Amino acid sequence: MQIAICGGERADGDVSIQGSKNAALPMLAASILTEDEMVFHRCPQIYDVEWMLALLRHLGVKATWESDTLTVQANHLQSHDILQKEAGRLRASILFLGSLLARTGSAKVHMPGGCSIGKRPIDIHMDALEKSGVQVSDWEEWLVCESGSKPETVEIHFPYPSVGATENLILYHVLGKGKARLKNTAREPEINSLCEMLRQMGAKISGEKTGNIYIEGVKKLHGIHTKIPADRIAFMTYAAMALGTQGKICLRTGGESFEPEQRYLEKAGCHFVAGTNEIIAEGTRGICPISFLKTQPYPGFPTDAQSIFLSLLSRAHGESVLCETVFENRFQMIPYLKKMGADIERMEQCAHIRGVTRLHGETVVATDLRSGAALLLAGAMAEGKTCVEKAENILRGYVEPVEQMKKMGLRVQWEEEES
Ligand code: UD1
Repeated sequence: MQIAICGGERADGDVSIQGSKNAALPMLAASILTEDEMVFHRCPQIYDVEWMLALLRHLGVKATWESDTLTVQANHLQSHDILQKEAGRLRASILFLGSLLARTGSAKVHMPGGCSIGKRPIDIHMDALEKSGVQVSDWEEWLVCESGSKPETVEIHFPYPSVGATENLILYHVLGKGKARLKNTAREPEINSLCEMLRQMGAKISGEKTGNIYIEGVKKLHGIHTKIPADRIAFMTYAAMALGTQGKICLRTGGESFEPEQRYLEKAGCHFVAGTNEIIAEGTRGICPISFLKTQPYPGFPTDAQSIFLSLLSRAHGESVLCETVFENRFQMIPYLKKMGADIERMEQCAHIRGVTRLHGETVVATDLRSGAALLLAGAMAEGKTCVEKAENILRGYVEPVEQMKKMGLRVQWEEEES
């Protein structure tokens, strides 16, 4: 599938910010920690969530949609296996290690897949689980684990604040006996929303905002209704479209704040006015270069927004340097931006970007979710028609991106890919 976009229009309209992909996936993995019904409001209907539901259904979990409310109930688990077909699609499948071990005492999970943005090893997850008493009998194609005897207290220092490993260990320790102190944990907002949800379910967990998490396992967790937080990367993507096209859009946020995200976009020239339930993003003054910006774990600049900034800065009034420190393979879109007329030189993990006054439409490829969204932005900023092939990758994380862009007044549509 491809998305065709005719550039040159200024964004002008309204966008509702969807529920967050990276918050929803661990929250869904946590839904098997209780036998009760769990209700997720504002759950994004995206491929990654659908694939996560396929994993849950394979385990025997009931899952039903009503509009964007998802109801899940794991009262009878009929399996503790996450098979290759399902796990291969999605990195977040590894989160079932923690929640299955906590719920059933054993887990068999095929090595996870996900976007092609780097090697994505799992050593931090496995080392921390082993320190927590988990016995791993296979660690090649399959991860075969038994919970073994959980130590009464355990202290684990993460060598790097991995988001997934932090989530996995939280999921493992919240249920059952034992106390755990996790140090140097990830502090991404998605960790906070997972902990907040678990506390509402009855978990004893604290300290997540400090990177030093304390958990006291409980016997039982209960079902709740919860709302998935708004997606900070979708917020940045659509605000960047206002800036990149020198337009003005209204982002319906449901009252949630995006201050850290706004700060990065403000550096690039975006102007924001916050109301009660919405934030106006305006880019009428054009794109400012950023002399140096590098991705880092939260509260640093998010790697998931790096591709968006690569597109934006390629049209800035001056030179920028953008470095990637989190995933080694997140510059796959540079050749496509260059094909569209961008002046970018890659030196190892940094991109030296000299802003150009025009980009032109081309056929390009969405090699992964975020670069796909960034190429849509490049297409909106370019003269003429851009076709983004493999655009199904964008549906992994964005709810109806074409419809959203149309609501912003941009000329965009789905097309069949020519074979
Ligand atoms: C999550 C997000 C992803 C985001 C990333 C960083 C989800 C579903 N995905 O991915 O969108 O870009 O956080 O904010 O929430 N690493 C190891 N060993 C490990 C684990 C990670 O070396 O055991 C490395 C990774 O290869 C990578 C870095 O640590 O270089 C960050 O990975 P991590 O924070 O774990 O990201 P994910 O949880 O995979």
